[in-house]
Amino acid sequence: MNNKKSVFSENNPQIPIWFLRQSGRHIPEYFKLRNREQNFISFCLNTELVVESTKLPLKYYELDAAIIFSDILMIPWAMNRNVRFIKGFGPSLEPMKPNETKIIKNINIFDKLEPLQKSIAILKKELPREKKLIGFAGAPWTLACYMIEGQGSKDFVTTRKALWNSNKWFMELLDTLCLYIANKLEMQAKAGADILMLFDSWSHMIPNNFFQECCIKPTANIINMLRKKNISQPIIGFPFKAGSSLINYSYETNVDCIALDWTVDLDWAKKNINSSVTIQGNLDPISLVPENSDYLEQNVLSILEIMKDNRFIFNVGHGLTPECKIKNVRKVIDIVRNFK
Ligand code: CP3
Repeated sequence: MNNKKSVFSENNPQIPIWFLRQSGRHIPEYFKLRNREQNFISFCLNTELVVESTKLPLKYYELDAAIIFSDILMIPWAMNRNVRFIKGFGPSLEPMKPNETKIIKNINIFDKLEPLQKSIAILKKELPREKKLIGFAGAPWTLACYMIEGQGSKDFVTTRKALWNSNKWFMELLDTLCLYIANKLEMQAKAGADILMLFDSWSHMIPNNFFQECCIKPTANIINMLRKKNISQPIIGFPFKAGSSLINYSYETNVDCIALDWTVDLDWAKKNINSSVTIQGNLDPISLVPENSDYLEQNVLSILEIMKDNRFIFNVGHGLTPECKIKNVRKVIDIVRNFK
């Protein structure tokens, strides 16, 4: 039985389109807003600036969705992990010490992230009805990566050591994060988000024999908690570069849609991924960087051609980068809109 929710309206024959990390960074106007707060956390807690940044890409582009301006690291921040964003370096957190750092169980996410709730409620009123608003959270593994490593990393060795050497503590951390993530998604859904998305940006660091425990089970657990609370919004999962594990992920997590990274062969995906799950993806975001690229149109058309008979959402296979050109984003949207 197909119990999957359709992510965008079934009645609209057009292919929906939006872009991962569409707000900020590649739009110069973002920096004017950004300069109004000294640090990124206070920016994410400033309702007025969050509302404006969320709407910014819709001013420039004809998109079908807005994604709420926030960050996956707002949960570690709410857990008092001293999160900072350092210019030219990225996120920096007080690293958790496996087996030693106490995992706090009584954080009230609803209180701590109240500005997020307010921003969503305002946006729901201000956005045109046909534009979907996407709420999101980081998946447990990806949050644990940042919380243990204390920063981004090429291979998250400290996190993987913790998985092998302090497994009980590590699993307790994932379980606790599941609760907070479910709380954050519930809050966004109740405030008016139409779609929820879970970013597992470092799922490709999970040793294969732990993929079930560290990615699939926690994701299923979060979705189960939400469904039990009658949160009915469709859920997009993004197990970044998960390779062959995408198959089990699509069957066992209960996501309604799977976002694919740019390395996935869409013909393979059509054959192997649970066919009741909508596919989102997967243009290489770097193809939007060159001033003049002969390949861009060809790439977009080839994605559309492969996916034309499927439930499909056009997107990039990872976030737009600061170097991405506005005119290229417009060109992609044009091609998608005119595809027959
Ligand atoms: O356009 C949007 O999607 C806006 C909302 C958004 C941000 N971060 C704003 C942001 C979303 C959905 C995210 C998700 C996010 N954050 C992820 C998952 C998606 C992915 O890229 O894999 C991850 C891993 C993070 C963690 C994070 N936050 C990093 C590594 C960094 C620094 C480098 C970077 O990617 O920008 C951030 C900071 C951040 N989050 C910025 C923005 C606009 C840049 C802040 C600034 O300098 O102004």
